[in-house]
Amino acid sequence: MALLKIKNLSVKSGENNKEILKNISLEIDEKSIHVLMGANGSGKSTLAYALMGISRFKVTGGSVIFLNKNITKLSIDQRAKMGMTLAFQEPAIFEGISVQDFLRAGNKKISRKKTEEILSLIGLEPKKFINRYVDQTLSGGERKRIELASVIALKPKLIILDEPDAGLDIIIYRELYGILENIKRETKASILLISHREEVGLIADRATFLRRGKTICSGPFRPVMRKYCQSLKRKEICLKTMPCLKNL
Ligand SMILES: Nc1ncnc2c1ncn2[C@@H]1O[C@H](COP(=O)(O)OP(=O)(O)OP(=O)(O)O)[C@@H](O)[C@H]1O
Ligand SMILES: [Mg+2]
Repeated sequence: MALLKIKNLSVKSGENNKEILKNISLEIDEKSIHVLMGANGSGKSTLAYALMGISRFKVTGGSVIFLNKNITKLSIDQRAKMGMTLAFQEPAIFEGISVQDFLRAGNKKISRKKTEEILSLIGLEPKKFINRYVDQTLSGGERKRIELASVIALKPKLIILDEPDAGLDIIIYRELYGILENIKRETKASILLISHREEVGLIADRATFLRRGKTICSGPFRPVMRKYCQSLKRKEICLKTMPCLKNL
């Protein structure tokens, strides 16, 4: 069943009225990982912000249906309460806040035991990290994990992640994908994952390919990936970096 349905969504920038997204349509299944792919500037982050209801962007047509409810006109807060959450492309640093407090910032009811469970889920040893500060002393990979932990603490139904794999080296992003699979399994949430990496196919269920603000195709991961690779004239590179795509 679809958790989220986007129907013919068009979006303008509120600042200069420039149309960024035109007639975007896609569906995200329950308990699935849906990858949003496309070149730089194709509109991926804009779609993420518009889905979350960030007021910088204006919906000029179409609709967003979440949990069978039309949420096109709802505020960010209302969407968050319904279980939608977004992690931004640029990770935030919260100087002076402990990991424990950071995880409880969005959900005060969460117990210490639960925060420890969440840290285990994202692969950090609770005892070592629960009293650390969310600052520069954490490595890039640890900060990414703690950000994911804070998202899980909100008990979301849909997690939108804007390029969580950007800037990570090969070992860490493979770990990240493992963590995302854990999150899908343990929280039963769906993940809309914005990513440029072909290797995301290791965990993706379905995908949507955007180009210049339009949906080129949307469906099972492999055919969408094939179209994306062809459009980039990068099929050879894709096959080299990802042998499991060989049968495309
Ligand atoms: N406020 C704005 N005013 C005008 N144009 C904007 C605004 N915000 C985004 N754009 C433009 O909309 C297009 C889509 O931007 P967006 O950030 O959604 O792309 P993206 O697919 O996330 O790219 P990247 O892979 O580089 O993160 C770009 O051409 C961008 O310059
Ligand atoms: Mg972006």
